Amino acid sequence: MAAGPVTYERTRADGRTFELRRTAMSAGGFVLTVTDTTERIRTEASLREAQRLRAIGQLTAGIAHDFNNLLAVLVGSLELVQAKLEESDPALQHLQRAMWACERGASLTQQLVAFGRKQALAPQPVNLLNVLADMVSLLRRTLGDHIELELVETTGLWPAMVDDEQLEIAVMNLALNARDAIPEGGKLTLEIANTILDEDYARRYAEVEPGEYVMLAVSDTGTGMPPEVLARVFEPFFTTKEVGKGADLGLSMVFGFAKQSGGHVAIYSEPGYGTTVRLYLPRALGVILPARQPDQSPAILPHGSATVLVVEDNAAVREVATNILRDLGYRVRLAS
Ligand SMILES: Nc1ncnc2c1ncn2[C@@H]1O[C@H](COP(=O)(O)OP(=O)(O)OP(=O)(O)O)[C@@H](O)[C@H]1O
Ligand SMILES: [Mg+2]
Repeated sequence: MAAGPVTYERTRADGRTFELRRTAMSAGGFVLTVTDTTERIRTEASLREAQRLRAIGQLTAGIAHDFNNLLAVLVGSLELVQAKLEESDPALQHLQRAMWACERGASLTQQLVAFGRKQALAPQPVNLLNVLADMVSLLRRTLGDHIELELVETTGLWPAMVDDEQLEIAVMNLALNARDAIPEGGKLTLEIANTILDEDYARRYAEVEPGEYVMLAVSDTGTGMPPEVLARVFEPFFTTKEVGKGADLGLSMVFGFAKQSGGHVAIYSEPGYGTTVRLYLPRALGVILPARQPDQSPAILPHGSATVLVVEDNAAVREVATNILRDLGYRVRLAS
C-alpha cells in the first residue's frame, strides 16, 4: 500500500519557513514539493494578533465605559459637596484627595477607552509639523538635558486626518518611553514623511488598508527591546518597568488611537540599538489647511435662569448633571 504524502516544516537560519511535501509514486521514487510559507505564516500571525488585541480592547473599553459613568457620578457629587463647605472646613482636604483620585481614575479609563478604539475623536485636517513644532519645548523639558531632540523638517507634507489633541498625547507617550529607554544620554528623532502603503504591505499586516498616509516616526537610541517584549508591547498593562511607576497603558493608547484613526502603527526595535515607532495617519484628501486656531481660555461655568434639556442615558450621570445645572440657577428638563 502506498503511504500518503508526508509534510515537513523547515525554518532556515534567516527565518524563512518552508513546507516540504513528499509524495511517494506507485512506480517508485517520490515527488517533493517545496512551498515558501514565510509570508502566509507571517500574515496568519498578524491576523491572530490583531484579533487578540481587538478582543482585549472590546473587554477593556466596555468596563471603562461603565467605570467612567460611575466616576462622573462621584466627581459631580463631590463638586456639590465642595460647593457647600466653608474654605476652612477640615473635610475639604479629604474631598480634594477624593477628587484627585477620581481624576486619576478618569485618565486611566480614558486610556483604556482609547485602546478599545471607542474614544470620542474629532479628526480634522492637521499639519503634523505644526503639532510637533508646538510640542518641542514641552518635549525638551520632559526629556531632560541628557537627551538630544531632533525634529526633521520636511516640505510638501500632506495634511493628515487626525484628532490633534489625541495625537499630542500619543507623541508624549512615545517620548516618555524613549526617555525611559535612554538612561545615560542619547537622541530622540521625530520625522514626518508622506508614505504610500501598497497592496503588498496591506496584505502582510492585518487591518491595514492600502493608501496614502502621513507617517510620523519616533526613533530613540535607547536600550531597544528583545522579541518577546516586542511581541506584547501593545497589550494593556504590559510593562517591564517597576510596578506603580505608570499606568502601563502608553503604547496601548497609541495603538488604539492609530487604529481608530484609520491608521496603523509599527515598531522596529533592536536590543542595544534603539527603537523606532512609526505611526501612519490617513492623508486628508481635498482640503486646504485652515489657519491655526488661537488658544482658547478655560471655560467659566455661567450662571443663568434658562431651561436646559439634559439628555443622558445613564440615570446617575443624568442626576448629577441636573444637580450641577440647578446649582447654577437653570431649570432642568430630563430625557433619557
Ligand atoms: N522606546 C522604547 N524602548 C524600549 N522599550 C520600550 C520602548 N517603548 C516601550 N517599550 C517597552 O514596552 C513596554 C510597554 O510600554 P507602555 O508605554 O505601554 O507602558 P510603560 O511605558 O511600561 O508604562 P507607562 O507608559 O504607563 O509609563 C515598556 O514597559 C517597555 O518595556
Ligand atoms: Mg510608556
